[in-house]
Amino acid sequence: MTHLEPAQRIHELSAALRVADYHYYVLDDPQLSDAEYDALMRELRGLEAQHPELINPVSPTQRVAGVAAAQFAKVTHPQPMLSLANAMDEAELHEWHARVLRLLGPDVPLSFVVEPKIDGLAIALRYEEGHLVQGATRGDGTVGEDVTANLRTVRAIPLSLRVPTELALPLATQIEVRGEIYMGRDDFAALNQRLEAAGEKCFANARNAAAGSLRQKDAAVTAERPLRFFAYAVGPVQGVNLTGQWQTLHYLRALGLPVNRDAQHFDRFAAVVAFCHEWMARREQLPFEADGIVVKVDDFALQRELGVVQRDPRWAVAFKFPAREAVTRLAAITVNLGRTGVLTPNAELEPVVIGGVTVRNASLHNADYISERDIRIGDFVTVKRAGDVIPYVVGPVLHLRDASVQVWHFPSHCPACGTALERVEGEAAWRCPNFGICPAQLVRKVEHFVSRGAMDIAGIGERQAEQFVSAGWISDVADLYALNAESFAGVEGYGPKRIANLLQAIEASKQRSVERLLVGLGIRFVGSVAARDLVRHFGTLDALMAASESDLVALEGVGPVVAASIVTFFQREESRQLLAKLRAAGLRWEREANEDALSTSLAGKTFVLTGTLPSMTREQAGALITAHGGKLSESVSKKTSYVVAGSSAGSKLTKATQLGIPVLDEAGLRALIAA
Ligand code: IVH
Repeated sequence: MTHLEPAQRIHELSAALRVADYHYYVLDDPQLSDAEYDALMRELRGLEAQHPELINPVSPTQRVAGVAAAQFAKVTHPQPMLSLANAMDEAELHEWHARVLRLLGPDVPLSFVVEPKIDGLAIALRYEEGHLVQGATRGDGTVGEDVTANLRTVRAIPLSLRVPTELALPLATQIEVRGEIYMGRDDFAALNQRLEAAGEKCFANARNAAAGSLRQKDAAVTAERPLRFFAYAVGPVQGVNLTGQWQTLHYLRALGLPVNRDAQHFDRFAAVVAFCHEWMARREQLPFEADGIVVKVDDFALQRELGVVQRDPRWAVAFKFPAREAVTRLAAITVNLGRTGVLTPNAELEPVVIGGVTVRNASLHNADYISERDIRIGDFVTVKRAGDVIPYVVGPVLHLRDASVQVWHFPSHCPACGTALERVEGEAAWRCPNFGICPAQLVRKVEHFVSRGAMDIAGIGERQAEQFVSAGWISDVADLYALNAESFAGVEGYGPKRIANLLQAIEASKQRSVERLLVGLGIRFVGSVAARDLVRHFGTLDALMAASESDLVALEGVGPVVAASIVTFFQREESRQLLAKLRAAGLRWEREANEDALSTSLAGKTFVLTGTLPSMTREQAGALITAHGGKLSESVSKKTSYVVAGSSAGSKLTKATQLGIPVLDEAGLRALIAA
């Protein structure tokens, strides 16, 4: 327990979490690790559970509240939410500019704000006296839906605004903030993977994923979806006078709202055009899907003068990037076998160029995806390529279908080992249940085990994995450690130097962390993030193997599906045998004390904590020290590097003084870490 009054500690924790969100989402400069954030959140939840009377509606714990909505109430927007006319190429962009000049006259001093057009969905957030009171979707621009409960779960959206101290502007008494809800590329891919693995329907693109995640009847589901937000406009405002778009973006940022950092202000239209081109080229590298650049006349008075035609303001235009879709013929469907035995259908296409890249293969996700869309072999299909994501088949182009097309059936037996395929109840995926033996699965498992994120064994890749398996040299990944020079004797391509390098790389991998080993085991749903959390919590593989589903779900970020997958894995006889072999081979089984260190600024130093620190519990101070590579000890000796002492420290402080060991207060500890 902390020494502080609960009310004060609750206030402090809420503030710390709010600041962390602000740094993460608005400043793009995270200050806390996930683990630190979670620890603060846990402490706050605990305190609030003990003192429910102290729960503030804007507490970071109160993002998910209430019960599922039967349906969303309608919201009429006080000012219509507009859309944008498109400029499909540079010529159309110049036409837009020419019309602006024609309407305003050639001598008006014009400047422009350009912003990426992120592909998500528009929302409006109403703040009164700085507090979020309502959030609505755009809908048809006039009437949207009240999704307040869902939007409150989006951490990038502040529940209360900051006072914009850095600008000479007051906090608006009422303000409607408009912006875009979207999903980042990586988050989208991970979500789809999670949905696919859980046998749920995938989203066709990041935009649909954002919209589908927001419009959940149960806000708790929205809370689990990685939604992002950025603000780009205001609706009705009271209590502050905003005169232009560029100023408005600064104002929104000062209120603590995320504003896209890539927005820019230009006086010359030529610079606007250059920006559009530059961005089109950079598109692939963006962490989100952008479908264009929005160009806006900066000055609000000029915007009013230009006006709106139907729904499209004449003062703005969307310069659209070319579509990354194409239509081609689906020549065949093959299935790929993954390391967990899941078979994924793959489209073999007549090669087609999409956005400068030749596409020959595309994902078809799973059997249901194919049957629901009625995709047939020989069909002309629309193929979409979204950034780095593997291209996928959107669906057939029905009016191009001829009589030669053929309905495809999922194979009933594993193409590699002939075992009858199984479909797990409630899942979309078919899998080969021949876990221990199916050679194709083993090859995938070896590839995964030796991969960079796992055991990182140089010199073994897809080709070697196939060779080792088909030659019968290995029948599981642990057999890699039984390979020796004789295994390769006389094999073509394996000279003494190569053999020595290979064996050395295998040997070196024994020193990889237990976290990497856990990743390498290839347990479903256990990637590097989960592996890190599990190892941090359990410390050793034995402890993890002994964990029950209820032990596992008690961990933040581990749901029932992940827990079940872990327990099932460790229960399987072949997993147990494999683990016994890996252990006998001398692999690391335990976490090193400072394996997950944030930094090594305290490495090699031993600390003793005593007394009460002003703003941290002793546990938190201990966690901070180990997170930076320091060690903790209970008693003071000559080996102690520092004693960290708070108020009412007793005999340990006396002993430290006697031994001449440096004594730090909390500020001193923080300074040491920062040094
Ligand atoms: S301004 C002029 N700015 O694009 C008023 N819209 O086609 C229109 N969008 O519904 C909004 N990024 O969903 C604006 N930086 C941005 C935008 C943006 C994405 C979306 C928004 C809007 C649609 C209009």
